[in-house]
Amino acid sequence: MQILILNGPNLNLLGTREPEIYGSTTLADIAAACVEYGTQIGLTVQCAQSNAEGALIDHLHDARGKMSGVIINAGAYTHTSVALRDAISAISLPVIELHLSNTHAREAFRHVSMIAPVCLGIIQGFGAAGYMLALDAMKAHLTRV
Ligand code: DQA
Repeated sequence: MQILILNGPNLNLLGTREPEIYGSTTLADIAAACVEYGTQIGLTVQCAQSNAEGALIDHLHDARGKMSGVIINAGAYTHTSVALRDAISAISLPVIELHLSNTHAREAFRHVSMIAPVCLGIIQGFGAAGYMLALDAMKAHLTRV
């Protein structure tokens, strides 16, 4: 089972970006932890990050036929991007929406997710640990009888 973890805009700055909201763990540390945890639970994890909407869409398209599922932290594009939503719909793969912060406890513009209706489910508010929770959720989904 191959899983793509896709991170969107500004998440390359994790560790120094508003640590009071997003924590002090870097994206490289999160990626390494995800690969290691994935191995423990029988998932092969690949990670990618881009600040560009089109590049994220390209990653989603590339996942077709190669990946069993996708975990996406789309950053601010979550709240704005019909194109990302359409890409998630188009690839017919299970996709879990993820956020480090609880977007519903923040500004009103973060309460709307364009991608939520086409995702399997959402994990948010648990910081970096959310990525491991999402891997557990994906494994449970993929192995459900
Ligand atoms: C975020 C929440 C978004 O609202 C924000 O734009 C981000 C990060 C999160 O992980 O909490 O860039 O996706």
